Amino acid sequence: MKNLVILISGRGSNMQAIVDAKIPGARIAAVISNRPDAAGLAWAAERGIATAVLDHKQFADRESFDAALAELIDGYQPDLVVLAGFMRILTQGFTAHYAGRMLNIHPSLLPSFPGLHTHQQAINAGCRIAGCTVHFVTAELDHGPIVAQGAVPVFHNDTEATLAARVLEQEHRLYPQAVAQFVAGRLSLDGLRVLVADETPTSARLAVPLD
Ligand code: GRF
Repeated sequence: MKNLVILISGRGSNMQAIVDAKIPGARIAAVISNRPDAAGLAWAAERGIATAVLDHKQFADRESFDAALAELIDGYQPDLVVLAGFMRILTQGFTAHYAGRMLNIHPSLLPSFPGLHTHQQAINAGCRIAGCTVHFVTAELDHGPIVAQGAVPVFHNDTEATLAARVLEQEHRLYPQAVAQFVAGRLSLDGLRVLVADETPTSARLAVPLD
């Protein structure tokens, strides 16, 4: 069994998708939030999953918060740390400690549009295709070896909210799949590239507009 520790800051819908996927060989050791009011905490607790809160506002600086967070996480002996809407910039020491065993999902096709307001950035740039990316976490925000990407069309009447909802649907499919691949030992790193063992080749094509 591989232990997963999932970090959230809010509603935790990606955390829910990963829990609901019942990934073979994975055990959800804990769900941890930096915000006491994160809605996802109650959802996890109701399902008998261990939950913990570490409020970043109680710490003087990033270094001391990240050190305490790592100690809390390591108490659950994680094989994989899963960032699921965890809205914190992480220190270099923290990301180095979990190198190769911490994943994040970002709602854009990285390396385009890292950071906040990513959907509005995609709309403003006139993109016809947007999407989401699961990647290993490095010290650079929303950057790191890419495990998987999912794409969706952008329509002319899209708002930040409609595009976010369309991308979120893909996130809920992509993230459990990527976590399952990690748990099954199918991911290996080759510099900035990720090799997925036994990947099914696909000829699927998304073109927008189609004609
Ligand atoms: C998701 O869009 C995720 O990609 C981003 O923050 C959002 C979190 O949503 N990093 P949820 O808490 O998983 O519902």
